[in-house]
Amino acid sequence: MKILVTGGAGYVGSHCVRLLKSKGHDVWVYDNLLYGHREATDPARLIVGDLLDQPAIEKAMRDHAIEAVMHFAALCYVGESVTDPAKYYRNNVVGTLNLLDAMRACGVGKIVFSSTCATYGVPQQVPIPEDHPQNPISPYGFTKLAVEKALEDYRAAYGIGYAAPRYFNASGASLDGSIGEDHDPETHLIPLVLDVALGKRDHISIFGTDYPTPDGTCIRDYIHVEDLATAHLAAIEKVQPGEAIRVNLGTGVGASVRQVITACEEVTGKKIKTVEGPRRAGDPPELVANPQGALDALGWRAQHTSVKETVASAWAWHKAHPNGYAG
Ligand SMILES: NC(=O)c1ccc[n+]([C@@H]2O[C@H](COP(=O)([O-])OP(=O)(O)OC[C@H]3O[C@@H](n4cnc5c(N)ncnc54)[C@H](O)[C@@H]3O)[C@@H](O)[C@H]2O)c1
Repeated sequence: MKILVTGGAGYVGSHCVRLLKSKGHDVWVYDNLLYGHREATDPARLIVGDLLDQPAIEKAMRDHAIEAVMHFAALCYVGESVTDPAKYYRNNVVGTLNLLDAMRACGVGKIVFSSTCATYGVPQQVPIPEDHPQNPISPYGFTKLAVEKALEDYRAAYGIGYAAPRYFNASGASLDGSIGEDHDPETHLIPLVLDVALGKRDHISIFGTDYPTPDGTCIRDYIHVEDLATAHLAAIEKVQPGEAIRVNLGTGVGASVRQVITACEEVTGKKIKTVEGPRRAGDPPELVANPQGALDALGWRAQHTSVKETVASAWAWHKAHPNGYAG
């Protein structure tokens, strides 16, 4: 398949691009490099362009006879989405509408869109099934839910098929250590803890130790980025024009903040200094996927279910690239 991958120079997108190529797909990356890295992808297959430039998206689709889209490009900082929602609605919602309208103009019939467990908001039940109510608690989550709604309306009216995998916490790095996570600023727990192991940060803050969880810290579902890639491959091959697939992508097994820190200590052999503080607003105690829907719809399940294994792949990348793609 000839596939256009928006955001393919970013963290999750770059891992998916590699898998798609290894399976023989003809892949073009479309990324504005705001947060993406040229080094994370094949420069000969990179189109530097913005989702807000619809003619450029159409040109890319026509130039390369694109048949399907994988859409990772988005702004993803929850905190910034609260202080500057306009930026998020414009980039994530208007940008996606441009992409969908370019698909209509060019006759591209299917898309896989990176959605998120943040569309569920504070869960009423854990593990979270796909039919759980979607009540986001941040503008970021709302932009993702708005796109899910637009995809369904575009499917019904124009026949565009879509898969909307809702990721839990993307983590880890490619198993050969060649690409990995390099966000600036970084907000994700595992790379922040590994920065302490590398001596780049003094300590890791634990926000809240009085949650109703076994050790009092928040529990999350850490899904390996290579598992996300296999799920995307299954989704793009499965979904057909006019169809919809909405699935959680998680392991179904949660790890607490303290368990992640312990795993990092075991993997790195370094003592991690922690500083305990109060809870952060908007952090639910537990976010864990019910992974059954993805098994039923895609025949997919996560292969890397041990957080220690996921941390080990992240550590191999960060140790070899302490400054990310900069060296
Ligand atoms: N990382 C996670 O834990 C996680 C969890 C749930 C959902 N997601 C979703 O997965 C996707 C990928 O996340 P990530 O962690 O790889 O993020 P990332 O920031 O590493 O990658 C996003 C890429 O999109 C590009 N981009 C952003 N806006 C663009 C625009 N207007 N035009 C062109 N390119 C643009 C950026 O330059 C970047 O390369 C995002 O849509 C995110 O919302 C991520």
